[in-house]
Amino acid sequence: MREVRADAPGRVNLIGEHTDYHEGFVLPCAVPQRCVAELRTREDRHVRAWSRQIDDADPFEYTVGAEHRTASWGDYVQGLTWVVSQQGIHVGGFDLHLDSDVPLGSGLSSSAALEVATLRALRSAFDLGFNDVELARIAQRAEVEFVGAPVGIMDQMASSLAGERAALFVDTRTLDFEQIPLPPGLDLVVINSGVSHQHVDGDYVTRRRESEDAARLLGVERLRDVGVERLTEVDALRGVYAKRARHIVTENARVLEARTALKTGDLERLGELFFASHASMRDDYEISIPAVDLLVEIARREPGVFGARMTGGGFGGAVAIATAAGTAARVAANITAAYAQQTGESAGVLLPLAQ
Ligand code: GLA
Repeated sequence: MREVRADAPGRVNLIGEHTDYHEGFVLPCAVPQRCVAELRTREDRHVRAWSRQIDDADPFEYTVGAEHRTASWGDYVQGLTWVVSQQGIHVGGFDLHLDSDVPLGSGLSSSAALEVATLRALRSAFDLGFNDVELARIAQRAEVEFVGAPVGIMDQMASSLAGERAALFVDTRTLDFEQIPLPPGLDLVVINSGVSHQHVDGDYVTRRRESEDAARLLGVERLRDVGVERLTEVDALRGVYAKRARHIVTENARVLEARTALKTGDLERLGELFFASHASMRDDYEISIPAVDLLVEIARREPGVFGARMTGGGFGGAVAIATAAGTAARVAANITAAYAQQTGESAGVLLPLAQ
């Protein structure tokens, strides 16, 4: 019997939204909120999994090798052993306790944190040989093929490889990645609108399908292969296809520019790219919501703020704000106060952490 403990962070994407399933570029960072997995191996192939947040009393139970979809949180665990087994890797049964402070539905990828923490625990408990990129691939496959959420690989790569004071630039076609330290003049603020999203069905899937159709109209499989030099052609597409393709094509260009801005410490430019990305998500990809747009507009008026944008899959979730070092606490407090005054609703500060 072995007992191991592992953890993994949630992520905030700085820029590059919905680009990953088009094999484009992303630039996420880890957040301090994490999922902790405590795992004890068993002699049999049985699994009992507890989630402190979802149901502390009753474990989710199944047998490794007999995974079946249940449309409950336990599918995230089952999906991992299912993919691992599909790859011919043997894992036995285990008891698993999960405890996470990554808020669900906030756009910080609580699911990737759960997957990566659990896979790290499985890797050390059963001496599995996969590296951190392979781990991210297993987690993504579990989510797509078992849970049934057709996501890209950004969140799993970020949870597996990103740090808190460095952005992780990922080319999602090759999975080549690069850690880019955040310039000392930059602080990040993340504010949760409190409106939860859902990825398994609905709008994420629709956007993915529309943009894939747009790609085919442009004669490519993935919009990664359409550069900004083809924007006139993009604009000539009919219906929603022009908008959907324009977002992905321009967003990829913005990620590359943001990478340069981070490297050169050009925070004004980084901020402009944040605002432009938000406008593109709002007007072209149409994945924002009024509560999130309002948070971005309030942030725009706050002294010290370079830029703000929705982060994550959209239709709710959180806003990422780039602000001058030393201003994060004041900016977060002022934005949430103004938001409460204008809407009567309260928005939660996810970053900086309360002192
Ligand atoms: C979700 C998905 C990611 C990515 C983002 C949008 O977080 O899990 O793969 O597509 O949405 O950028």
